[in-house]
Amino acid sequence: MTETRTAAKKVLIKTYGCQMNAYDSDRMADMLAAEGYQPTEELGEADLVLLNTCHIREKAAEKVYSELGRIRLAKDEAAAAGRVMTVGVAGCVAQAEGAEIARRAPVVDLVVGPQSYQNLPALLRKTAAGERAIETEFAIGEKFERLEKAGRRSAKAVSAFLTVQEGCDKFCTFCVVPYTRGAEVSRPVSRILAEAEALAASGVREMTLLGQNVNAWHGEGADGREWGLGELLFRLAEIPGLDRLRYTTSHPRDMDDALIAAHRDLPELMPYLHLPVQSGSDRILKAMNRRHKAADYLALVERIRAARPDIALSGDFIVGFPGETDADFEATMRLIEAVGYAAAFSFKYSPRPGTPAAEHDDQVPEKVKTERLAALQALVAQQQDAFNRSKIGATMDVLFEKAGRHPGQLAGKSPWLQAVQVDAPEAMIGTIQRVVIEKPGANSLYGRLVSSSSSATQPLVEAAH
Ligand code: 5AD
Ligand code: SF4
Repeated sequence: MTETRTAAKKVLIKTYGCQMNAYDSDRMADMLAAEGYQPTEELGEADLVLLNTCHIREKAAEKVYSELGRIRLAKDEAAAAGRVMTVGVAGCVAQAEGAEIARRAPVVDLVVGPQSYQNLPALLRKTAAGERAIETEFAIGEKFERLEKAGRRSAKAVSAFLTVQEGCDKFCTFCVVPYTRGAEVSRPVSRILAEAEALAASGVREMTLLGQNVNAWHGEGADGREWGLGELLFRLAEIPGLDRLRYTTSHPRDMDDALIAAHRDLPELMPYLHLPVQSGSDRILKAMNRRHKAADYLALVERIRAARPDIALSGDFIVGFPGETDADFEATMRLIEAVGYAAAFSFKYSPRPGTPAAEHDDQVPEKVKTERLAALQALVAQQQDAFNRSKIGATMDVLFEKAGRHPGQLAGKSPWLQAVQVDAPEAMIGTIQRVVIEKPGANSLYGRLVSSSSSATQPLVEAAH
């Protein structure tokens, strides 16, 4: 007996930018799975190509347009073979540019902003009917509710993201996020707990809470009181199986006492904090509308370190903000020296259309930006190297996530977000093991299991650091 089946449709999702986009891409994949789409990595076999874009810095948008050029060729080839390839642009470039994308790149059939992903199936029905679909509404509450209904179908993971908050009300003068992601919206506690419990039940050991301004998250707690992120973390730490909690990205102004107490009291909350400061010059911080001074940031770091002495910090820095002088830049270098970072992301300022700083007429020459960035990155690289070396000889918990670079090796993460390679049996994937760090590599640390006799079938539950 023969059975005729139509082959499953295939979707290729390419993700740019931040972890929130990675999270959204996974949720879109879940939603599309319910519509009969299977994921593929092959452009040539995709029926639907979705670019989940980032608009935060200039090159990201340009990359999208050049990628669309490549996709146009694949779409033409598919058409020549009698197949329809639908091309969509999602994410912040979609939100910022809207219909302009389809004008500049006619290959695009669908444009969908980050707050409208729940409408993807309806938009695809529109494109299937030969229409162009463009949707950039802000209806964020609805987004999460409808995406939740799709459930999680993505591959099982040891470490997962959970978006708790979206948008930003801070309006730093260089940043497009308040315009592309909209105003701050916090997901309710009950929804977050339900998703976290489901993740834990599916084997997730490490959960990273996401938000553009994650520590501005707030909501009504189970006890009827208003909770901030600190209270939420205390509650999440009670969920069995969630051995490790992280959150990103935070604004210094929203680090409140409860959150610092969570760092002090919760062994599950990993000793690593991404806390961008952008500049060490008060004049530039003011022009950036950061609403704090360099000394406030340093005092905050001191309080956090008093609560959790082994905490590692990472940051974001912008060099060449309009009007930045050598003295301003020096102040940033001094702040970096004073803090001592385990890692940092640094960028040349790039004017984003529609943001206040883009209008300044004292833009810094490219050559100066290049020099400052190189000097800053050299300093951060030194600090990062010193931090990694400080862990040599230390015994720490490593969460094994996947097979390592070489046969017989597993790749895991230290509490400080360092990649660690260890000779260990595959059965230890998904478990936390005690590891002694032996030497640094180019991008990871190399370690050895402390007790090679420890059984892989008995995951260690200890979480002491
Ligand atoms: N130019 C350069 N860097 C930027 N960032 C945000 N907007 C800009 C811009 N216009 C950087 C900030 C932010 C990180 C995510 O991207 O450092 O923290
Ligand atoms: Fe952008 Fe500032 Fe909001 Fe961060 S806090 S997302 S840099 S506006």
